[in-house]
Amino acid sequence: GLDISKLMSTTGAVALDGGFLNTASCSSAITFIDGDEGILRYRGYPIEQLAAQSTFSEVSYLLIYGHLPSAIELSDFENNVKRHTMLHEDLRRFFDGFPRDAHPMPVLSSAVSALSTFYQDSLDPFDKEQVEISTIRLLAKVPTIAAYAYKKSVGQPYLYPDNKLSLNDNFLRMTFGVPAEDYEVDPVLAKALDLLLILHADHEQNCSTSTVRLVGSSHANLFASVSAGINALFGPLHGGANQAVLEMLTNIHRSGGGVNTFIRQVKNREDGVKLMGFGHRVYKNYDPRATIIKNAAHEVFETLGINDPLLDIALRLEEVALADDFFISRKLYPNVDFYTGLIYKAMGFPTRMFTVMFALGRLPGWIAQWREMIEDPTTKIGRPRQVYVGEPQRSYIPLDAR
Ligand code: ACO
Repeated sequence: GLDISKLMSTTGAVALDGGFLNTASCSSAITFIDGDEGILRYRGYPIEQLAAQSTFSEVSYLLIYGHLPSAIELSDFENNVKRHTMLHEDLRRFFDGFPRDAHPMPVLSSAVSALSTFYQDSLDPFDKEQVEISTIRLLAKVPTIAAYAYKKSVGQPYLYPDNKLSLNDNFLRMTFGVPAEDYEVDPVLAKALDLLLILHADHEQNCSTSTVRLVGSSHANLFASVSAGINALFGPLHGGANQAVLEMLTNIHRSGGGVNTFIRQVKNREDGVKLMGFGHRVYKNYDPRATIIKNAAHEVFETLGINDPLLDIALRLEEVALADDFFISRKLYPNVDFYTGLIYKAMGFPTRMFTVMFALGRLPGWIAQWREMIEDPTTKIGRPRQVYVGEPQRSYIPLDAR
């Protein structure tokens, strides 16, 4: 019943590509992915090299400004971010209004959205100076907001940032520290955190990044666009997968650890159950980030002397799935989130904080993508077309005649 002539617009044929399987929404010079080969590069640098040799601060700079910083550029950048870690007292009080058991993701997106009300000079996306300040404010304040979202959920007092510490140590202290006691940052955990943040820092036009760009294409400011990205990340098919993976592993463990039974349920699509942390729209090969994370998980567990039965279940699941035709034929491999939750758990984060940790990592990517979009003079407002499949014209029937 489709009227083909209506699928032509003034600019040509309208293509129907639900889920954007084959539609590029932009051109970008930030991140390169080859999903068949399992390659990921930020600004041309392979993720393996950045993971082994760089830091999250440096990677953030690289993504946003396009080049690796000199020593002076890096220390200026880090000091600048450190100066903005404090939240306005009124914004801090914001957290009191949420229910104690609120999920920290909507708390995070609400607080980031609220930054536009505290920094009203941020509203013009073409004011380069303001965009720069908004960039620094986001990098500085989102970790504080994330730590406060956690503090809220455990009913502990909020800690002010201590800017003598590095950004990561500061975040760990604000999250796990308590006012009356010194907080010693465990270097193993700090290193693992930095690695996780690097691995999540950008991933080209994924759901949340596309959301940031789409919202920004209407000339909404950086805070509004990033807040929208956080909401997109919340879903279990995207950033919420790391929480879903841990819940899945816990359920398998509670029900006796039957990996084969679970895989059978997935294959039979019982109750729509999926092997969470497996599959990816672009990677049809091992996700290179998953390889790095898997090794890091072993290291963290060994160094901390942790013996988590959930890691064994994850390893068994991977082994069984990668030898099973269902997963082989669909090219389903572990993605970045298959192992991240286990490390976050070892670090002491509750499951509901996992996606917030993903957001902390993805933040520089969202900012870099928003800035690239707004600086590109060819950017138009994002406005997809549709294929209408509803009723043809019909006449209104008055209520008493229906
Ligand atoms: N478990 C079982 N089957 C799966 C899984 C999975 N995790 N992922 C995909 N499949 C199956 C689908 O049912 C489909 O089978 P069919 O062709 O017989 O119908 C086939 O594999 C292709 O999957 P699609 O859903 O069409 O692939 P798409 O590219 O749309 O989805 C996605 C990708 C959303 C990541 C999907 O693989 C998934 O839901 N995975 C689990 C959630 C997850 O881990 N998300 C994190 C993604 S990475 C990230 O955001 C960091």
